[in-house]
Amino acid sequence: MALRTMISGRAVRSGAAMGARSISSWWRNVEPAPKDPILGVTEAFLADPSPNKVNVGVGAYRDDDGKPVVLECVREAERRIAGNLNMEYLPMGGSMNMVEETLKLAYGENSELIKDKRIAAIQALSGTGACRIFADFQRRFRPESQIYIPVPTWSNHHNIWRDAQVPQRTFHYYHPESKGLDFASMMDDIKNAPNGSFFLLHACAHNPTGVDPSEEQWREISYQFKAKGHFAFFDMAYQGFASGDPEKDAKSIRIFLEDGHLIGCSQSYAKNMGLYGQRVGCLSVVCEDEKQAVAVKSQLQQLARPMYSNPPVHGALIVSIILSDPDLKKLWLKEVKGMADRIIGMRTALRENLESLGSSLSWEHITNQIGMFCYSGMTPEQVDRLTNEFHIYMTRNGRISMAGVTTKNVAYLANAIHDVTKSP
Ligand SMILES: Cc1ncc(COP(=O)(O)O)c(C=O)c1O
Repeated sequence: MALRTMISGRAVRSGAAMGARSISSWWRNVEPAPKDPILGVTEAFLADPSPNKVNVGVGAYRDDDGKPVVLECVREAERRIAGNLNMEYLPMGGSMNMVEETLKLAYGENSELIKDKRIAAIQALSGTGACRIFADFQRRFRPESQIYIPVPTWSNHHNIWRDAQVPQRTFHYYHPESKGLDFASMMDDIKNAPNGSFFLLHACAHNPTGVDPSEEQWREISYQFKAKGHFAFFDMAYQGFASGDPEKDAKSIRIFLEDGHLIGCSQSYAKNMGLYGQRVGCLSVVCEDEKQAVAVKSQLQQLARPMYSNPPVHGALIVSIILSDPDLKKLWLKEVKGMADRIIGMRTALRENLESLGSSLSWEHITNQIGMFCYSGMTPEQVDRLTNEFHIYMTRNGRISMAGVTTKNVAYLANAIHDVTKSP
C-alpha cells in the first residue's frame, strides 16, 4: 500500500510509490557550500604548524599573550550560579530581567520608552539571532520592503537577509582613498532611496572598517531619515569596544531616539562580555505605544518558536547577575574599558612600528579607525603574501583584527606589512 505523507498541506506519495529512485540519490545534487570567509581563516591558521603564526582574522578579543579571555565579572557570576541553577526552559521571549537590563544599555538607564513599555524585546541567540529574527519579522510584516546594507559590512548580514528572503540594496559607506567615511555618497544614497526604506546601520565600531560617523554626522543622518521616513535597524555588536564606555557608544541610537525615530536594534554580549559561545543577545523594536509593543513582541516570539522554541538559559543568567548587581556592573565596565584600551594601545604600536620602519605610506588610519578592526587598505594579493610568506592570517579584504595584536607580535606584524606594501 502506498504511504501518504503531508508536505505543505498536500498529501504526497512516498517510498515505493514514488518509483524507481535509488535511496543513494537523495543528496546527489548537493554541492559543498562555499567556505565562510571569516571562519575559513581560523581553519587555515590552526592547520599551520609554524611557530611564528599570527591570527588577526577572527573577531574575538585576545589578551596580550594571544589567549581568549573570560572576564572576572563573568567568573563571579558563574560562581554565584554554580549549583543553584535549575535547567527549566526560559519563556519564549527569554529572561525578562536580562532583557530589561539590556534595553537600559541601548536606550538609556532612564529611558521613557522603557518606562512607557513601548519597546518590544526578546532575548536572542546573540547578535546573529537578533538580526535574523528581525529580518524574518521585516519579511513577514513589510513584505514589499528591501534592506539597504552598507558597503562593506559584516559578510553575514548579506546571508541573514538573503535567507530571510528580503531583497537587498547597498549604500555607500567607506571611502577607499581616505580610508574613512564616504559621507557625501552615503547621504546621497539615503536621499535617493524610496521613502520609507529599511536601512541597516552599525551603531558603533563598524565591522570591518572601524569607521564610524561623527556625532554631527549621525545627527545629519537621523535628520535625513526623518525627512525620508526611513526605518533604521541598528546592529550593535560592539557596544563598549569603540570608546571603552558602553554609554558613549550608544550615542548614535540616542540621537535617533531624540529625533523620535521608531528604531529596531540588535544587541550582543559576545564581544563586550566575552560570551561568544553562550549566544546571548537581545532584539528590540520601538513601537508607537504599549499595545503595539505587546503585539510586536508576540510576533517576534512567534518567529522564534518554530526555530528554537526558547533561548538558552546560562548566558542570560550570567548577564542578568552582572547587570543587576551594581558592584559587578562596575567591574564589567572596568573590564570593557580594559579591553578597549589594550586595542587602542596596539593601534598606536602598530602605526609607530610601521612609521619607524620608514614606510612611505600613511598609516594614520590605523589610529583614526576605532573598535576591534583596522581596515588596512591592503590588497588581497598583499594579504596572500602575508599568509604565504609570514604565516599571518586575516580576511582577504585586508581587515586586521586588532584584538589579535600583542606586544609580542606587533613588531613582526609591522615588519611583514611593510615588506608586502613597500614598492618593489
Ligand atoms: C557587525 C556584527 N554584527 C553582529 C555580529 C554577531 O555576532 P554574535 O552573533 O556572535 O553576537 C558580529 C560578529 O562578528 C558583527 O561583527
